[in-house]
Amino acid sequence: MGLSLHEGYKKASLFFTPDNASSYDIVVNVATLGRDRFWKKRIIDALDEKLVRSGYCLPNISVPYSSQTCTNLDLASGTGILSGMIERESGKQEASMNLVCLDLALHYLQTAKKKCTRGLLTNATAELLPYREESFDSITSSYLSKYINVEAVVKECWRVLKSRGLVVFHDFTYPSGWIARSLWNFYFGLLKLVAKGVITWAHVFQDLDHVIKSSNWVHETSQALRENGFSNIVIRFYTMQTSAIVLGQKP
Ligand SMILES: C[S@@+](CC[C@H](N)C(=O)[O-])C[C@H]1O[C@@H](n2cnc3c(N)ncnc32)[C@H](O)[C@@H]1O
Repeated sequence: MGLSLHEGYKKASLFFTPDNASSYDIVVNVATLGRDRFWKKRIIDALDEKLVRSGYCLPNISVPYSSQTCTNLDLASGTGILSGMIERESGKQEASMNLVCLDLALHYLQTAKKKCTRGLLTNATAELLPYREESFDSITSSYLSKYINVEAVVKECWRVLKSRGLVVFHDFTYPSGWIARSLWNFYFGLLKLVAKGVITWAHVFQDLDHVIKSSNWVHETSQALRENGFSNIVIRFYTMQTSAIVLGQKP
């Protein structure tokens, strides 16, 4: 049976271009008012909580890609902000983390090379992962969920995760309260105005608010995780519900 591409695939290909790869890091940091790092740190905390502290990751024996250290797959790794943070954090701890980065956009991956020095880079789509069954101890993604067929990606995550492995999805959300919504709409209006002056990003900010508003990824992801057999499913919202992480563990 063929896999039909999600509409978000086209959107992502239009948004993330060779022209804006080099400015992505600064744009995401400024546009989220620095919250991006805070949210990504919550993803790392989740890995730390579930995998490292539970004793699932064994101490690093300094052999790259050894079966004794954990391997994390970072889906839609982009320019490698999250992968780089995981690499740095794991360097500070006893339990080490090897990394594999995957992204649709080749130029974004090329930028990631500088941050993700220990990582393997893969140019592919998250809906069809080019890895063997049970290859990874954990899977992370930041700002991918609104662009994908969640059901297909969750199925692939199940296939490539080892038993007791963890998957963490993070993305923007449209808040539910009216005060937060009004602020959110005002802020996106402002971003659109500012972005009009930045040729490589104007088209992204003209559309990003609609993409976020029309996505139901939190519900779809938690449902897909449950239906595919994941347990310990947790949903956490941050910063007035403007962002969330959804995580699940393969039993
Ligand atoms: C907003 S960027 C996020 C990058 C990075 N995760 C971060 O947090 O900085 C979204 C990334 O998702 C990638 N992407 C979108 N759809 C994808 C798919 N189906 N498979 C793999 N990557 C995808 C894009 O190429 C882009 O690099």
